[in-house]
Amino acid sequence: MGVRKPLIAGNWKMYGRRAALSEIAALHAQVGHVSGAIDALICPPFPYIAAAAETARGGSVLVGAEDCSPVAEDSARTGEVSAAMLADVGARYVIVGHSERRSNHGESNDLVRRKAEAALAAGLTPIVCVGETQAEREAGRVAEIVGGQVRDSVPAGGAFVVAYEPVWAIGGNSTPTIPEIADVHRLIRETLQTKFGDKANRTRILYGGSVGPKNAAEIFSAGGVDGALVGRASLKASDFAAIILAHPAAV
Ligand code: 13P
Repeated sequence: MGVRKPLIAGNWKMYGRRAALSEIAALHAQVGHVSGAIDALICPPFPYIAAAAETARGGSVLVGAEDCSPVAEDSARTGEVSAAMLADVGARYVIVGHSERRSNHGESNDLVRRKAEAALAAGLTPIVCVGETQAEREAGRVAEIVGGQVRDSVPAGGAFVVAYEPVWAIGGNSTPTIPEIADVHRLIRETLQTKFGDKANRTRILYGGSVGPKNAAEIFSAGGVDGALVGRASLKASDFAAIILAHPAAV
């Protein structure tokens, strides 16, 4: 294994019911044998995290959350869920700053960074999402937008993961080309290097946006890609397992 163990994470978004938890057991059965080489993570909606962690207990699949409060302390915050609560029910990771949170809830880089720091304080690993819109890409602003998001949304210390998810590639059928993905991953790592020095080489940078069983191997071949953040294709164990097993570390 290189310095960075690949991480392949599933973001269930607002999909799934209790019955979907059987996919976690099925996933373990299909990818458990590669867990020494690849981390497999499922992030279900809040109501299912505790049961997902119970289902996953003792197996190879890690469980995480899709969001958390930026406030670490127990406090009067109706409707919010703290990172400590997520850790308490068995979550190990939490996605912060997903583009759907940034656009639907107006989340700023500053808020995303505070969420990531709250996650670290609770012992969770934050997965900090960044990515440009179609208009920003067409205007030649990828480096400015993604570089700025990385600089301002990642936590000041601690171990975190970055997920590069071009907004225009989410939920559709198109992805950037392999050289385009490699370019942005290089930009992200250089931005982290400027900020943190050597730690950048130990930080995992995932690609997300229309990853599926058919294109996973090609995407994993892009330079600097340490895994994937997968939406739709993480809902069915057979699809998600096919993605995980397409990683070169799975041999
Ligand atoms: P899709 O894989 O469905 O395009 O979603 C990507 C995503 O937003 C994961 O966080």
